[in-house]
Amino acid sequence: MQISAKLTTRLSELGAELRPGVSLQEHTSLGIGGTTDEIVLRRRETIPAIMALLADEGVPHRFLGGGTNVLADDGELSFVVLHLASSATAMRVEGNAAYVDAAADLGATVTFCAKQNLGGMEGLIGVPGSVGGALRMNAGAYGTQIGPHVREVELYRAASGRLETLRGSEIRFDYRHTSFAPEDVMLQVKLELPSKPFEEILSGIKVCNEKRRSSQPLHQKSAGCIFKNPPGHSAGRMIDELGLKGHRVGDAMVSDRHANFFVNAGHARGTDMLQLIDEVREQVRSAYGIELENEVIVWRN
Ligand code: EPU
Repeated sequence: MQISAKLTTRLSELGAELRPGVSLQEHTSLGIGGTTDEIVLRRRETIPAIMALLADEGVPHRFLGGGTNVLADDGELSFVVLHLASSATAMRVEGNAAYVDAAADLGATVTFCAKQNLGGMEGLIGVPGSVGGALRMNAGAYGTQIGPHVREVELYRAASGRLETLRGSEIRFDYRHTSFAPEDVMLQVKLELPSKPFEEILSGIKVCNEKRRSSQPLHQKSAGCIFKNPPGHSAGRMIDELGLKGHRVGDAMVSDRHANFFVNAGHARGTDMLQLIDEVREQVRSAYGIELENEVIVWRN
C-alpha cells in the first residue's frame, strides 16, 4: 500500500503515527497475514478528520483491535490497518459504572472491575482481545455476553462521519452480532455491573478458567471458535463427530482439543486456513445439511 508524503505529513499533524511494513502475523492471534502499513490513532477527536482524509485520498482501510478474531490474506495487503492506541487511563469506575477505552484488554478489564467489587463478567475472563472487539461482536462465554452490561458507547460513526455516543438501548446485541456498522470505530464504553465481593468474583473466574483450560487449545495460535454455533447445534460437536480433529491443510489444522478451534500449527498461510474452513464447512453441509457461518472475520486482499 503506497501512502503519499502529503498524507504522511497530514497524519502526523493529526497526532497519528504511520508504521510502514507491519506484518499481520505479529498482530493477530492466528499468526497469519501479509504486510501493510499501520496507522496508530492517538487522539480520538482527530479520528473524523483522519477518516475523511483516507476517503479523499482513496486509501482502503480496515480497523484492527486485538487481532484475535481476524484471518488476513497473505502477501502485500491492499489496505492499511488502523489501530487505536491505548491510553494510560484506560479504565475508571464510578459507583456501579465502569468507563473503559475500546483499546483496553478485555481480560484486564474483567480483573480491574473485580478489584473494585464489580462482577457479572466472570465468564468473559479468558476471552482474548480488546473491549472494542468484544463490543463489536458481542463476545460471550459461559452464559455471559458483554451486551447486556453496556449502557453507553462512544464511537466514530461511519454514517455521520462524526464522534457520537449511543445509549445501550439504541444498540442491538445478538449472539455474536451487533447493529454497529462495519466501518464504525468503537472508542469507549460505559458498563453497568452488579456489586459483588471480590472473593466471590474470583471464585467464578477460577471456575471459568478451569473449564476453558480443560476444553480449549489455549497454548496454540487460534482465533477462538472459527464458526458460530447454528441455532440449537454445536459446530464443535458436529466437526468432532465427523472425525475431523487433526485434519489439516498445510499447517492450518482442526484442533485435536476443540474441533471448532482451527490452529496455526507452524507456518500456516491464509490460503491454507481458508481452504480448511471451506473443506470443513462442506463436510458439515453434506453430513448435516447445515451451513456454518464464520465467526472469524476474513480480510481478503
Ligand atoms: N464438543 C465436542 N467436541 C469438540 C468440542 C465440543 O463434542 O471438539 C461438545 C462439548 O462436549 C459440548 C458441546 O460440544 O457438549 C459444546 O462445547 P463447548 O462447551 O466447548 O461450547 P461451544 O459451543 O463449542 C461456545 C463458544 C465459545 C465459548 C464456549 C464456552 C461459540 C461459537 N463458541 O463454544 O466461544 O468459549 O461456548 O461458553 O459460540 C468463541 O466464540 O470464539 C469461543 C471460543
